[in-house]
Amino acid sequence: MGIIDHKSKKEEEQYPMISKPLRFILLQKGSYVLSSLFFVFGFSVGLFLCLQLKAVHMSTTTTQRQPLWSTLLFNHTTTMDIKQELQLKTLQHNMSDQELFTKVSSLSSPTSSSSSWLGRRHNNDGKMVVKVAFMFMTGGRLPLAGLWEKFFEGHEGFYSIYVHTNPSFQDSFPETSIFYSRRIPSQPVYWGTSSMVDAEKRLLANALLDESNQRFVLLSDSCIPLYNFTTIYDYLTGTNLSFIGSFDDPRKSGRGRYNHKMYPQINITHWRKGSQWFETTRELALHIIADTVYYRVFDEHCKPPCYMDEHYIPTLVHMLHGEMSANRTLTWVDWSKAGPHPGRFIWPDITDEFLNRIRFKEECVYYGRGGENVTTSKCFLFARKFTAETLEPLLRISPIVLGFGP
Ligand SMILES: *[C@@H]1O[C@H](CO)[C@@H](O)[C@H](O)[C@H]1NC(C)=O
Ligand SMILES: *[C@@H]1O[C@H](CO)[C@@H](O)[C@H](O)[C@H]1NC(C)=O
Ligand SMILES: *[C@@H]1O[C@H](CO)[C@@H](O)[C@H](O)[C@H]1NC(C)=O
Ligand SMILES: *[C@@H]1O[C@H](CO)[C@@H](O)[C@H](O)[C@H]1NC(C)=O
Ligand SMILES: *[C@@H]1O[C@H](CO)[C@@H](O)[C@H](O)[C@H]1NC(C)=O
Ligand SMILES: *[C@@H]1O[C@H](CO)[C@@H](O)[C@H](O)[C@H]1NC(C)=O
Ligand SMILES: *[C@@H]1O[C@H](CO)[C@@H](O)[C@H](O)[C@H]1NC(C)=O
Repeated sequence: MGIIDHKSKKEEEQYPMISKPLRFILLQKGSYVLSSLFFVFGFSVGLFLCLQLKAVHMSTTTTQRQPLWSTLLFNHTTTMDIKQELQLKTLQHNMSDQELFTKVSSLSSPTSSSSSWLGRRHNNDGKMVVKVAFMFMTGGRLPLAGLWEKFFEGHEGFYSIYVHTNPSFQDSFPETSIFYSRRIPSQPVYWGTSSMVDAEKRLLANALLDESNQRFVLLSDSCIPLYNFTTIYDYLTGTNLSFIGSFDDPRKSGRGRYNHKMYPQINITHWRKGSQWFETTRELALHIIADTVYYRVFDEHCKPPCYMDEHYIPTLVHMLHGEMSANRTLTWVDWSKAGPHPGRFIWPDITDEFLNRIRFKEECVYYGRGGENVTTSKCFLFARKFTAETLEPLLRISPIVLGFGP
C-alpha cells in the first residue's frame, strides 16, 4: 500500500497542477496509517458504487440481475419506472451505426447467448420476462396502428416496439399509444439499395440493447397479425429456431442475381433468396450484427437487379448458421398474380373466408424447444400487404376471426 502511495505521490509532484486529494493533506499532517485506511475505504466505496451503477445501466430490464442496493431501496414499480426511463434514453441515443453495432456486439458474445431465458412467460418468481421485439419499418405513418393497438392490449411487459421511419417524418402518436416515443434514430431508406439492410440492422441493434428481448420480428407498415398475442408469443418463444425465408432459386430472379465478383467469399452454390420479413432469435440477431465480411461483399457487388434485402441475410445464415433457421418466413404475401410486386388488399377483400384461408393455408413442421416436432397448419403468423382502408373491416372482424379486440 505504502509503495503505491509513494508512487502516486511522486506522480503528483511531477504534475503540481493536479489538485491534491484529501489523503495527501492528511499525509502532511503525519497520520500516515489513518490516511491509508481512509484511502482504502474511500477507494472501495467508490469502486463498489461504480460497479453497482454499471450493473444498473447494463440491466435496463433484467430483474434477475438487479443490484442489491436497488432492491433494498426501491419498490418493484419504482425500478420499473427507472428501467423505462433508461429505455427511453437508449431510443434517443445519438450513436452512429458503427458505434451502435460495436456496443451491441460487446453486450454478450453470440456463443454465450442467454437462450435459457426463452419461454419463461410468467414473472411469478421475479425472474426476467422474455419479450418479443416487434420492429416496424415504414416510410412514414403506420396506417394499421389501430389494429396493432388492439393486438397488444393487455400484454404489457411481454413485448417491445421499435419503429424505423424516414427522419423527415413527424410523429403523431398520442402519449397513450403503444407507438408513442418508440422511434429509433433513423436514416432514409432507398428501395433496392443497401440502406434497406442498414435499417434492418439498425432496428435489430436498437432492440438488442434491451436484454429481455429474445425474439425479433421485422414488420412493414402494411403487415397485420393473423392470431392473438398469446398464440404468436407462444409460437415464437416455443422454438429455438429462427424463421428466415431461404431457398435456392435457379431462375434469373434467383441465381441470376449472383455476381461472380463475389467469389471466393460467396460461391454461387451458397446463394440464397428469401423474404426480407424475418423473425430471429437473439443469438442469430447478434450474429447478423456481427458480420462485416459478407456485408461488404454484398454492399459492393449486389446492385439492382440484385436486391440486397432479399439475399444478404438468407445467404449469410445459410453459409454460417443454417442449423439455426427453419428456412421459412412467417409473413404471408400474395405472389399469385404475376408481376414484380405482390398483391395488395383493399376494403372488399377483408372477409372471414379470406383471412382463414391465409391462417390455415398449408402444412409445415414446427420444431419445439423440447425437441418435439409437430405438423401444423399455422405456417404464417403475419400477412402483408394491407392498405390503410382495410383497417376498418379488420377491426370489425378481428374479435371473431383473429381472436383479439373488444
Ligand atoms: C413500496 O410499496 C408500498 C405499497 O406497494 C408502499 O406502501 C411503500 O411506501 C413503498 N415504499 C417505497 C420506498 O416506495
Ligand atoms: C450525443 O449526445 C450527447 C448528450 O446527449 C452530447 O453531449 C454529444 O455531443 C452528442 N454527440 C453527437 C455526436 O451528437
Ligand atoms: C388466443 O387464441 C387462442 C386460440 O384461439 C386461445 O386459446 C386463447 O385463449 C387466446 N388468448 C387470449 C388471451 O385471448
Ligand atoms: C462452389 O462450391 C462447390 C461445392 O460446394 C464446388 O464444387 C464448386 O467448384 C465451387 N465453385 C467454384 C467456382 O469454386
Ligand atoms: C435450414 O437450412 C439449413 C442449411 O442452410 C439446414 O442446415 C437446416 O437443417 C435447415 N433447417 C430445417 C429446419 O430444415
Ligand atoms: C433449445 O434450447 C434449450 C436452451 O438452450 C435447450 O435446452 C434445448 O435442448 C434446445 N432444444 C433443441 C430442440 O435444440
Ligand atoms: C420428428 O421427430 C421424429 C422423432 O420424434 C423424427 O423421427 C422425425 O424424423 C422428425 N421429423 C422431422 C421432419 O424432423
